[in-house]
Amino acid sequence: MINVMQPTLGKEELDALEKTFASNWIGKGKKVAEFEEIYAKHLGSTKDKVLSTNCCSEGLFSSMHLCDIKQDDEVILPTVSFIGAGNAVCAHGAKMVLCDVDSRSLNARACDIEKVITKKSKAILLLHFGGIPCEMDEIMKLAKAYNLKVIEDCAAGVCSSYKGKALGTFGDIGMWSFDAMKILVCGDGGMLHFNDSALRERAEKWLYFGLETKSGYENSVAQKWWEFDVSSFGHRAIMNDVTATIAIEQYKKLPMYMQKRKAVHDFYNDSLKGLDWLDLPLPIPDDCKTSYYFYHIQVKNGKRDELAAYLRKNDIYTTYRYFPLHRVPGYHAEGHFPNADYAADNTLCLPIHQSLTESELEYIADKIIKFGK
Ligand SMILES: Cc1ncc(COP(=O)(O)O)c(C=O)c1O
Repeated sequence: MINVMQPTLGKEELDALEKTFASNWIGKGKKVAEFEEIYAKHLGSTKDKVLSTNCCSEGLFSSMHLCDIKQDDEVILPTVSFIGAGNAVCAHGAKMVLCDVDSRSLNARACDIEKVITKKSKAILLLHFGGIPCEMDEIMKLAKAYNLKVIEDCAAGVCSSYKGKALGTFGDIGMWSFDAMKILVCGDGGMLHFNDSALRERAEKWLYFGLETKSGYENSVAQKWWEFDVSSFGHRAIMNDVTATIAIEQYKKLPMYMQKRKAVHDFYNDSLKGLDWLDLPLPIPDDCKTSYYFYHIQVKNGKRDELAAYLRKNDIYTTYRYFPLHRVPGYHAEGHFPNADYAADNTLCLPIHQSLTESELEYIADKIIKFGK
């Protein structure tokens, strides 16, 4: 079966892990600090504004607390969002208010968001679908006008930027995922970015039990370093030196990953462009960089499900992300979302990852072309 997504891991990660094992320290330590430093530079930011965590979902959940969202406050999110975003809002006791998206990019636009703003709106939890940037100028202007916090889910946007600025650095909080199905992978891991370093400091405590003092060796208290206080009833959601070791090696390979993923993207653009029953290429806005996380086509002849089943029978796995939250019965969501409905019924994400071979790509294109005949 050709996978729709797949990590690329090798000897470099193993060699680096050997050294970490030999160091006798696998908890949160020097490797985590090194990765935070590297990632801050990668974003064009500084270390006092980034913070690692154990997964991006933790970032979604914690963002509610860190943005001081209260019960009954409204949080706006595109209905095409990751399930963890919906759960984060609802678990916090806030009201999940969904907005529609652009039917081709699956990103929420400022006009979609503005339609659902009320006096109770407190935050926008934005998803950059597949790492393709949302229209950040317009959205930030809107957020300013209505005094809304902006939380950016850039789970898949590890190399994405909008007009030269890294995605995730526009809003109050930005976040990335390094789970097994992302581009830069480490098993499980996440990074958070804060525009206000004081909020980052609060987050650091929140993600470690709300402890007011550092534990163990890090505690400079001369006498009883086992005594402590808490400023909040926080979580325990930290990265460790094992996952950070893998992440550091993965980071070095990012330019190569981007090159390979772009080649896959260009191949699909070229080989499928003559098919009038498909919508492509990807809608990447001018002055923006994507991370080529998804290659999503739209099937205009109403046969998306048939195409997916046919490809699967031919050992090509495809999928659709993200099943819109308004169709998840457990959310009891209100509203009409015609663009998201169109996208949910006609979009298909084709295989895209670093290990796809030319012959696999030729095979995929050939099968899709034959399906249309
Ligand atoms: C858009 C989006 N946000 C957040 C997450 C959560 O990431 P993690 O698995 O690191 O918790 C995912 C994971 O698939 C995702 O796709």
